[in-house]
Amino acid sequence: MHKKSIGLFVGSLRTASYSKKLANAIISMAPDGFDFTIIPIGNLPLYNQDYDDHNQVPEAYTVFREALAQVHGVIFITPEYNRSLPAVLKNALDVGSRPYGKNNWNGRPGMVISCSAGGLSGFGANHHLRQSLVFLNVPVLQQPEVYLANVKDCFDETGALTERSAKFLQKAVDAYVEWFGKIA
Ligand code: FNR
Repeated sequence: MHKKSIGLFVGSLRTASYSKKLANAIISMAPDGFDFTIIPIGNLPLYNQDYDDHNQVPEAYTVFREALAQVHGVIFITPEYNRSLPAVLKNALDVGSRPYGKNNWNGRPGMVISCSAGGLSGFGANHHLRQSLVFLNVPVLQQPEVYLANVKDCFDETGALTERSAKFLQKAVDAYVEWFGKIA
């Protein structure tokens, strides 16, 4: 059986990003038959429709769109910036959705994980992201919802996920995989 390939998208470019750490931990939670890989989004120039309209598509767009076309599902791990999703992640949604008529996100089952340094847990980012995913035709796992407040506390002093957080995230990943099997 061919493995199902799931792309992970991280909404923070910061070197010490907790979202990135969560994504790396989630990679190791992929069950047999699944391959989880981070697809980088930090090198994508800001979306400009002229590139597509005038046949001047940046190489980074092409690489990203091809990578997106190869995956069967998508997982977003993002912080909240000013009560919404970070621009870098919205830019990736936009780049992947074009040129007109060629939405590379189309039909790929998704999961959204949000986090925050403080107590808010990225609820605003989580739901603004879901709003765009409706139009991009990415069906999203409804339950469990994953909001991680005080994200620093998800990790122990060695940088590994605490047992409690690992268990919680593994449960969410398992729910995604089971649901993926039903609808993919
Ligand atoms: C933030 N942060 C933040 N947190 C939050 O809960 N709600 C918010 O609206 C915002 N807004 C915001 C804007 C900007 C520009 C920055 C840089 C940060 C704080 C944010 O949760 C914190 O920096 C996280 O640690 C960012 O995630 P990473 O980089 O650790 O993955």
